[in-house]
Amino acid sequence: MTAELGFAVVGCGMIGGHHAQVITGGAGMRLAALVDVEEERATKLADRVAAEFGASRPAVSTSLAEVLARPDVDAVAVCVPSGLHAEIAVVALEAGKHTVIEKPIDVGLAAAGRIASAADAAGVVTAVISQHRFDPASQVVRRAIDAGRFGQLTSAVASLSWWRGQGYYDSGDWRGTWALDGGGALMNQGVHTLDLLLWFLGTPVDVHATTALLAHERVEVEDTVAATIRFESGALATLHATTAAFPGVSARLQVHGTRGSAVIDNDELVYFHAATGDDVDDYGSAGSGNQAAEELAGVPDGGLDLASAQSRQYADVLAAIAEGRAPLVGVPEATLALATVRAVYESAAAGSTVRVADVR
Ligand SMILES: NC(=O)c1ccc[n+]([C@@H]2O[C@H](COP(=O)([O-])OP(=O)(O)OC[C@H]3O[C@@H](n4cnc5c(N)ncnc54)[C@H](O)[C@@H]3O)[C@@H](O)[C@H]2O)c1
Repeated sequence: MTAELGFAVVGCGMIGGHHAQVITGGAGMRLAALVDVEEERATKLADRVAAEFGASRPAVSTSLAEVLARPDVDAVAVCVPSGLHAEIAVVALEAGKHTVIEKPIDVGLAAAGRIASAADAAGVVTAVISQHRFDPASQVVRRAIDAGRFGQLTSAVASLSWWRGQGYYDSGDWRGTWALDGGGALMNQGVHTLDLLLWFLGTPVDVHATTALLAHERVEVEDTVAATIRFESGALATLHATTAAFPGVSARLQVHGTRGSAVIDNDELVYFHAATGDDVDDYGSAGSGNQAAEELAGVPDGGLDLASAQSRQYADVLAAIAEGRAPLVGVPEATLALATVRAVYESAAAGSTVRVADVR
């Protein structure tokens, strides 16, 4: 392996461009190659890398095998449509490459299982993108939970109210299909907020959900989800995700406990309160004592845009490789998020409560 980790980005669409930017801008990484089944997409991105990102022009290929054989490729970023993640990731892992997979890990648990087996056999670092775990707000809330500062966690409200117009779903044949998108507002967009919810509240036990397709056409999947989730700790959460909320309002997560609460809205910590002593009274005083500013003091900001957030996750991947440890978001964490999404769909289809552990 060369001093810098050489990456190949596979899939040069919307998110592949971000990965190329993050890799070329990041310390300890180098963009060696770009792969896309549509050569023109890879060529265009290679031009951007040279012209806009100020890095040397990566090699371009339509052949994954050819790129995996290159000695300057140590790692692969999988940025193809969701239902093809396992197909690419397993081949990359079998070639012994560290692998970063876009979210969701894939669209089905059998595919996630194939990635898990290949990752175990390869013994390299396998990470799944969930960049919001690295937001300062998420880190502050998780640290407070770990330290028990919110007391017993009792409930959470996770809500993603976004807008995606018909043009978005029409922009790629794979969008809005069960086979390649694996779902709609929850699998594609809401999975970020759901992953944070699981990171904060722990293991989900069961799910009761209703889904609907309300504001789009030529789409197989849902654009709106309402669900409840019960956790192993006994905590309860409501989960709402929609791409039918014009003009798109926020991704919001409220976490509540017997000694404190936090609210993250559009990646920012807008409310935080943790009891400091015996100051838990009988009626509380909602809205007072917002400690968010002091909690964030000294926490490096680093920007909340997509590239900044993904840069923080790439830094974790590089550190995991250097330290021989698991990344913060690996196959087990991403598989749990996928199982929970699948439980939502199975519950909506059956009209009954579904245990997450029973989802196959
Ligand atoms: N982390 C995030 O915030 C975030 C944001 C957007 C998308 N994503 C994820 O990124 C993935 C891609 O989404 P997108 O919006 O970039 O899609 P896209 O349609 O813009 O790009 C996908 C690219 O993959 C290429 N491709 C398809 N099959 C291929 C194959 N077998 N080998 C090589 N290339 C292939 C396509 O030609 C296309 O260029 C999805 O899984 C999506 O969920 C994540």
